[in-house]
Order: sequence, then structure tokens, then C-alpha cells
Amino acid sequence: MNNHVNEPLTPRERDVARLVARGYSNRQIADDLVVAPSTAERHVANILSKLHMRSRAEIGVWAVQHESISSRPSIPGRRDTLPPELTSFVGRERALRELAELIPKTRLLTLVGSGGVGKSRLVLRLAGSRIEANGREVWLVELAGLSDPALLPQTVASVLGLRDQRGLSMVETLVAALRARPLLLVLDNCEPVVGACADLVSAMLLRCPDLQVLATSRIPLHLTAEITWPVDPLVTAEAVQLFVERARGDSQFRAHRPEQPRRR
Ligand SMILES: Nc1ncnc2c1ncn2[C@@H]1O[C@H](COP(=O)(O)OP(=O)(O)OP(=O)(O)O)[C@@H](O)[C@H]1O
Ligand SMILES: [Mg+2]
Repeated sequence: MNNHVNEPLTPRERDVARLVARGYSNRQIADDLVVAPSTAERHVANILSKLHMRSRAEIGVWAVQHESISSRPSIPGRRDTLPPELTSFVGRERALRELAELIPKTRLLTLVGSGGVGKSRLVLRLAGSRIEANGREVWLVELAGLSDPALLPQTVASVLGLRDQRGLSMVETLVAALRARPLLLVLDNCEPVVGACADLVSAMLLRCPDLQVLATSRIPLHLTAEITWPVDPLVTAEAVQLFVERARGDSQFRAHRPEQPRRR
């Protein structure tokens, strides 16, 4: 049931909508606004309810159309929208070395692997290293919550701070904006809209010669220009390190000994 019929967004909710449009998770919104993650989650739920929406992507599109969202970097002075890492990064040194060598040789690199294997963490690290490597702009578009493929061009445009241009489709608006702009576009979690990603990326790569795309997906985009990189699970020692670090950082975590059989 919608409890917010025709209620306008509060100023705080509009702040939250703007951050959603920039691809922030609830945790990152909470950090940015210095509130608890549960508060950020409640704001997002209220926005969805008030605007009669079902996904964060829809909020992003709304925010671009109704709020003045500038295409500003997440950290002042940097030319990227990569969110700060909130937890330590473990291992993957060899993959990062090999991927860094591969990137200059392709315009579309997709990290592929099963759910939870670490594709998104790896791509953020990789993209971060590219900013330092060649100084080009790096934009991250989070697609995990997007269920309607028709919203993909608008979602990408909203992160880039582009508005509808009269007489142009959203794809044409994107192409016009990126045609002469050296940019690395990171499309994270493409799988819910993988077909739409393939269509959009192929249109943009064809007409934007300075554009490079890094993607993560459980399934490849299947484009001729694509190089896929299978992401394997962390090796055992790294997985153990990750487990220990997360357990240390989690005040609720308790290690339990297996129950001992009672002596009679
Ligand atoms: N190298 C790493 N160092 C630290 N944490 C990691 C690493 N790889 C993965 N994780 C953690 O494991 C969890 C899953 O990782 P991630 O979201 O990157 O997986 P994914 O392959 O993108 O999953 P999905 O297909 O569901 O999008 C996250 O909590 C992430 O922070
Ligand atoms: Mg992911």
C-alpha cells in the first residue's frame, strides 16, 4: 500500500535522490550524509513510495529530470565518480597486473563470473588504477537494480549528468556528448539488462572513438569488440584473510565452536 499519495519529497529525500542518481549504495549515501545506513534505506523507500517507483534507476532518471544534478566527481579534484572503498581489498595482484596490460589493447573488457565472486570489487580497483595511469575521466554506472532495459540509456545519461535534448533520442544524446570526450565508462552488474547493454555499448563504441568500456556481468555482452576476462574465486589463503578481516570489523560477529556432545 502506498502511504505517501501526492506527498512531495522532503529536502533530505531530494539530497538522497541526487546521490542515488550518482550510483551510490545506501551505505555510501549514509556515509556522505553522515546518517545511519538504516536511515538512508528508509529515505530511499520513502522516495520509491512517494514517486510510485520500483527501482533506484527510476529514481536516478527522475532526479536528473527534476533536480540540478551536475556531473561532478565523487571526490573533489578527481575526474571520476568511483565511490570510496569502505572495506579493505584483498589479493588479486596478478589479475590486476594482467588486466592493466590488457586494457590498452581493447575498447570493451568484460569481467565475467558467478554471483559474489568479486567482479565489482575488482573492476573498481582496476578503474581506480586507470585514473592514475592516464588521467582520463572515469564514470561508474551501477546497473544491479535496473530491471527495465528501456531505462538503460537514461540511467547512463543520468550518471553523466546529461539531460534530454529536444529532437534527440537518449542514445543520440549520449553519443553526441561522448563523441569527442576521452572517457572510461564502467558498467557494473550488466546482467539484468545485458541485451540492452550490448546494444548501447555497440552504438557508442562505433561512434565515440575515445570511449572505452569496462563491464562486469555474470554473462558476457557477446559483442565482436569484447574481450572477456573470467574472474575466479579468491584463492584459499585470500578467502581466509577476507573472512578474518570481515569478522574483525563486525562487532556482531561471534565464532562458535561446534557443539560438543554432552556426556551423560
Ligand atoms: N578482493 C576482494 N577484497 C575484499 N573484498 C572482496 C573482494 N572480492 C569480493 N569482495 C567482497 O565480496 C562480496 C562480493 O563481491 P562483489 O560484489 O565484487 O561480487 P560480484 O562478483 O560483483 O557479485 P554479483 O555478481 O552479485 O554482482 C562483497 O562484499 C565484496 O566487498
Ligand atoms: Mg557485482
